[in-house]
Amino acid sequence: MHLIEKQNLKNYNTFGMEVVTKSFLQVDSAEEVPYIIENYLQRHPYYLLGGGSNTLFTKDFDGIIVHPAFSGIGLVGQRGGEAVVRVAAGEQWDNLVQYCIRREYYGLENLTGIPGLVGSAPVQNIGAYGVELKDTLLKVEGYRISTGEAFELTRDECQFGYRNSIFKQKLKNDCFITYVWFRLSCIRHFTMTYQGLSKVLEERELPLTLRNVSECVRTIRDTKLPNPAVVGNGGSFFKNPVVTAERYEALVSAFPDLVAYDAPDGKKKLSAGQLIEKAGWKGRRVGNAGTWENQALVLVNYGGATPDEVLHVADSIVDDVNRLFNIVLEMEINRI
Ligand code: EPU
Repeated sequence: MHLIEKQNLKNYNTFGMEVVTKSFLQVDSAEEVPYIIENYLQRHPYYLLGGGSNTLFTKDFDGIIVHPAFSGIGLVGQRGGEAVVRVAAGEQWDNLVQYCIRREYYGLENLTGIPGLVGSAPVQNIGAYGVELKDTLLKVEGYRISTGEAFELTRDECQFGYRNSIFKQKLKNDCFITYVWFRLSCIRHFTMTYQGLSKVLEERELPLTLRNVSECVRTIRDTKLPNPAVVGNGGSFFKNPVVTAERYEALVSAFPDLVAYDAPDGKKKLSAGQLIEKAGWKGRRVGNAGTWENQALVLVNYGGATPDEVLHVADSIVDDVNRLFNIVLEMEINRI
């Protein structure tokens, strides 16, 4: 492990917020986690930080930022048309996706290009282009911070929902995830429910292969989403709101072009990006913060934005969307 005092977190959050943490603890192996829990995390305020791609730091942190820096992808076994892999928390998510594509394991290709680390992926059940992490996750290994005990949670026990899991609810901030297990298919199959994806493949006249799907996903992401290495951002800032069927009918009679997807229990999931655009916020900038010109759901740091500037834009969006649609947007990003 490495412990650093007074660390600037600018390079540890894709939003590029310049805040300072009292201590920064880099964890170099899963074996040292019990020691770290007992000697540091049970004694001080802490925050578990993966790739920092889903966190908005709003002020200096008076505690320990804990960052897993151990990586590696282990093939546990391959039989019966399935492969099981065990992946360390500090592995880059996209490395895992590329590993699966090289070995012809099906299931993660639509999740190409998502920034962040594997250990954080179960927390918000990352998802894109018709696929969610929960579709291939087998189990999660780690330690409870309050007790120091090792745990293993199966997929069902993780209670996954839309950008949600037990790690954001009952066990919030109490789990140091060390390894994530995936069950992938060795048998050719694709999820092509996202219309934009099949469209790009057709336009390019590309055959349906793992590599082509992955590259088309990357193309779509590049056109819609700002590259965090160039323009600071944390991906979707808000969740897509889920409303009852009756509420949807009322809204669509006022706004006939409203985009909606079926959600569990007969409900409808609206597009927060469209609501924000209709509220006049697409590509709008206030000071150094604003929304992305190609995707209003992504708030961006145009350079040197302070947390207050980002929060001002976020609050204004929530107010304007609420005024127009009577819907209160919920943050997707973790605000610290
Ligand atoms: N839309 C607009 N205006 C906008 C943005 C979107 O009208 O400014 C419309 C689009 O035209 C489209 C619909 O909204 O009809 C949905 O847009 P898009 O397909 O871009 O996806 P999204 O619902 O905005 C979600 C995820 C993304 C994920 C994409 C693709 C959430 C909060 N976001 O965005 O995930 O990549 O679907 O599957 O669910 C993330 O979580 O950080 C993230 C980027």
